[in-house]
Amino acid sequence: MHDKFSERNFSTRAVWSGTNHIEGSAVTPIFTTSTYQLTDDSYQMWKETGGQHTLLYSRYASVNSEAVSSKVASLEQAEDGETFSSGMAAISSTLLSLLTQGDHVVTSADIYGGTYGLMTSNLPKYGIEVTMADIRDPSSFEAAIKENTKVLYVETITNPVLKVCDLERMASIARKHGLVSIVDNTFATPWACRPISMGFDLVIHSGTKFLNGHTDLTAGIVVGSKKLLRGVFEAKSRFGGAADPQMCYLLERGIRTLHARMPIHASNSSELARRLEQHPSVNSVNHPSLSSFDDYNVAQRIVPNGTGMLSFSVKGGDNRALRFIRALEIIFEATSLGGIESLVSCPFNTSHSFVPEEIRLESGILPGFVRMSVGIEDVEDLWSDIDQALEVSQL
Ligand SMILES: Cc1ncc(COP(=O)(O)O)c(C=O)c1O
Repeated sequence: MHDKFSERNFSTRAVWSGTNHIEGSAVTPIFTTSTYQLTDDSYQMWKETGGQHTLLYSRYASVNSEAVSSKVASLEQAEDGETFSSGMAAISSTLLSLLTQGDHVVTSADIYGGTYGLMTSNLPKYGIEVTMADIRDPSSFEAAIKENTKVLYVETITNPVLKVCDLERMASIARKHGLVSIVDNTFATPWACRPISMGFDLVIHSGTKFLNGHTDLTAGIVVGSKKLLRGVFEAKSRFGGAADPQMCYLLERGIRTLHARMPIHASNSSELARRLEQHPSVNSVNHPSLSSFDDYNVAQRIVPNGTGMLSFSVKGGDNRALRFIRALEIIFEATSLGGIESLVSCPFNTSHSFVPEEIRLESGILPGFVRMSVGIEDVEDLWSDIDQALEVSQL
């Protein structure tokens, strides 16, 4: 979606792209209407667009969802975008817009637990086959491709082990085999990585997380080419996962400060990762900024700006991890991530509870594994909280 800010730099686009200055308003006003007046022109538009980007009915598009879709498309340097009521609505509608009975998807077990459940439990019910390949080995994705493979699906930085996908290689494999490539860019955000420029076809976000940044809504966004977005829109309008105008207003407001928040998330999480790595109670730390991390070199190329996420395993297994989390005084125990406040959880009983234990262990969700979404609080306060909770959680 091109607007007059398309050629401007990232921060300027984050602030200004997509804003609809109705009646001269500085920000897009909230349009709390479910429907819009029909006219000869709008009937004609309905016929031409099916309602995509047309103000007819809020399940298709609203003033506020259009503002968000164009802002994210602008940040991701994509042609088009659609906004949804949640990340899962975006993921499921996108996959179902592309796949039908007899088709095959190649993905990896290193994905968000909800997406893993969709891939392993829901898609097979519709006769769609799924193969899990190794996210750290793009050639395993290529080897899994069959005659009926239609989609390659990955996460830029995986939830929760933070493995970094070599998006450039994955995109070229997908192109070579005529697959639609889809990436969930939630953990990286367009501030750290723009997968369209690396050859990906569709980029998905849980807007609930860093894009919004304030832990007060659920949202999803898909961006990519106009051609693919046409099908995504159709699935959105039929399956009904549209985003309401109030939520879109908040989300647009949140995204306006993405570029200001992300550097603090990233520097706080890198600093905590560095200190945790030296802590005697910690077995291992996953963070793309650590030179000891397996994906350090790929990360330097794909997500050089880093992420606000962090994960690590404490000595003493899951019980110690739970005691540690309960002993924290600032960092808040909750699922979800990407807000300005630090949140912490154990994936085995939250985001990845749907994933069988052996698959979790294989992908690196080890005993004592903790996932932390590092907020923008003072880093010394965060460290002293972690340090005291590690101390208290020892038996
Ligand atoms: C990487 C990732 N993608 C997608 C989702 C799903 O998003 P939502 O909860 O907004 O449906 C999540 C949720 O935690 C996630 O972490």
